[in-house]
Amino acid sequence: IDQLLAEGVAGKRVFVRADLNVPLAGTAITDDGRIRAVLPTVAKLAEAGARVVVASHLGRPKGAPDPAFSLAPAAARLGELLGTEVAFAADTVGDSARSVVAGLADGQVAVIENLRFNPGETSKDDAERAAFADQLASLADVYVGDGFGAVHRKHASVYDLPARLPHAAGYLIAGEVGVLKKLTDDAKRPYAVVLGGAKVSDKLGVIDHLLEKADRILIGGGMAYTFLKAQGHEVGASLLQEDQIPVVREYLERAGKKGVEFVLPVDVLVAAAFPDLKTKAPAHPTAVAVDAIPAGQMGLDIGPESRKLYASKLADTATVFWNGPMGVFEHPDYAEGTKAVAQALVDSPAFTVVGGGDSAAAVRTLGFDENAFGHISTGGGASLEYLEGKTLPGLAALED
Ligand code: 3PG
Repeated sequence: IDQLLAEGVAGKRVFVRADLNVPLAGTAITDDGRIRAVLPTVAKLAEAGARVVVASHLGRPKGAPDPAFSLAPAAARLGELLGTEVAFAADTVGDSARSVVAGLADGQVAVIENLRFNPGETSKDDAERAAFADQLASLADVYVGDGFGAVHRKHASVYDLPARLPHAAGYLIAGEVGVLKKLTDDAKRPYAVVLGGAKVSDKLGVIDHLLEKADRILIGGGMAYTFLKAQGHEVGASLLQEDQIPVVREYLERAGKKGVEFVLPVDVLVAAAFPDLKTKAPAHPTAVAVDAIPAGQMGLDIGPESRKLYASKLADTATVFWNGPMGVFEHPDYAEGTKAVAQALVDSPAFTVVGGGDSAAAVRTLGFDENAFGHISTGGGASLEYLEGKTLPGLAALED
């Protein structure tokens, strides 16, 4: 982007593909981290006199307009954060978008509606994506990719559009890649990785890859129960991916041979039912050892002994990557495990990277100062796939 700015963008229509996929409660944004993350790029372009067209997806609408997934709240918040008026187009490539973009003066910013309201955005059909990318290209003279959270998606605005316009990477993408590159190329040892979240199947690629790189892998969240079951524990009504047990067993064996330490919970908080996240009514969980999970009860967070264990396993590390909460942190009775890991990262002298929409939101909503971490990535799937060593379509498209 610096090269682009040096060449001059005044009067040019610059399409910024951002990731404004923020968590919403109705129309209220509960964590605006992803909007703040793209501000440097948008502000710099506007200051330089560009006519900035910001575009993003939000959620997973079904290829048609759906008010529940409108980007209007994100556009309003972007305007507040920039301290200027931000125009909003009620469609992506229709009359509204065309007239809003045509009406931009130099230095003004507009947001167009959710890209996924158009089926061409996410289509697996190359021609359908190309047709949508052509329409998007007609709205702009230059493309800046800065939606790091979406670079692992082969979508029209991420992958096909940059090929149609002069293009550059924005500050967010450049910064994210700089940090993640450090983790893949020369992470200082000991290197610990903390993985949580619901599904072990989402993390298999990254575990496979990290078995070659990391010294220690700490597992929490819903995915821990598949590991516990693979070790022979009964997990009651906890989340379990039965079909993944053989894969997990193979990882545990490989880790043993390679001297990579797997750290699993020694105790968990259990209850008979999933907590009510709306009312946050007290859930009255019980802490039990992992070999004593009662039938019919489900594990919803790591327990107090595990919290101590995980903190001690993180205290003497030099690099930590963390993706995924340790429990159902949205409910106060199950937030302590995630808080303990966040606190251990804050207390550790290690270079700490928090990756993932959920863990980043958890850190902020649980009241931690984001500056206390080395880096908080805006990408969940994107940062995991980067660490897996995969080619990410949105980065490949900007590289040539
Ligand atoms: C994310 O939240 O990880 C990104 O915004 C990508 O969203 P997606 O998983 O719906 O493609």
